[in-house]
Amino acid sequence: MANQGRGQTEVSKDNENEKGGEVTATEDLMREHGVLRRALLVYTAAATKLHSNPSSISPDALQKTAKLFRAFGEEYHEKKLEEAYIFPAVKQAGGEAAAYPDILVTQHNRGREITDYIINVTQNAKLGSNAEDLAKALDSFVLMYRNHAAREDTIIFPAWKQTLTDKQLDEMNDKFEDIEHDQFGEDGFEDAVKQISAIESSLGLADIAQFTAPPPPKVSSS
Ligand SMILES: [Fe+2]
Ligand SMILES: [Fe+2]
Repeated sequence: MANQGRGQTEVSKDNENEKGGEVTATEDLMREHGVLRRALLVYTAAATKLHSNPSSISPDALQKTAKLFRAFGEEYHEKKLEEAYIFPAVKQAGGEAAAYPDILVTQHNRGREITDYIINVTQNAKLGSNAEDLAKALDSFVLMYRNHAAREDTIIFPAWKQTLTDKQLDEMNDKFEDIEHDQFGEDGFEDAVKQISAIESSLGLADIAQFTAPPPPKVSSS
């Protein structure tokens, strides 16, 4: 089955039995976070290896991850959606959520500095003396964005949705779809998922079964 993205709206109007349905603007933002979280998981795995055995990590895979984070996260999700539409509306609405956008923008900007650094450092065939600094930068980037995206999912996006009527939200769905198509062509999200999947495969991280936790230890009764 082809694209299950937002483009299905028109199809659904023609055929009410069409499965998949429309991706709303907030669902869209959250599934974009899903792609970015997978990039963070790659960074965490890479940082662990950089701390212990720097030569075991391919700079190329890290470079590809940073470029995906730049194009899909920084230049599209953050700049074209959050900073252009979400944050101004949340600030204007006031209330508890309105205190967040300023610090979230500061974090976007710090993230861009770190992404510049990652892209720069991974241009070398070997990471060598940069390995420890790079590992620390990756760890701090991951901690920042785990906090950042979790607050956006639970505070910012719900607050933004509260500022819109159903009709306005529907218009935002269409607007976000147009922006995504302008930026990436037809399959922005699907292509980003393919890219992060390929990176995971190259690093041996693709098989999710390896992450199933072991059973917990037995509690001794004494
Ligand atoms: Fe953000
Ligand atoms: Fe975000």
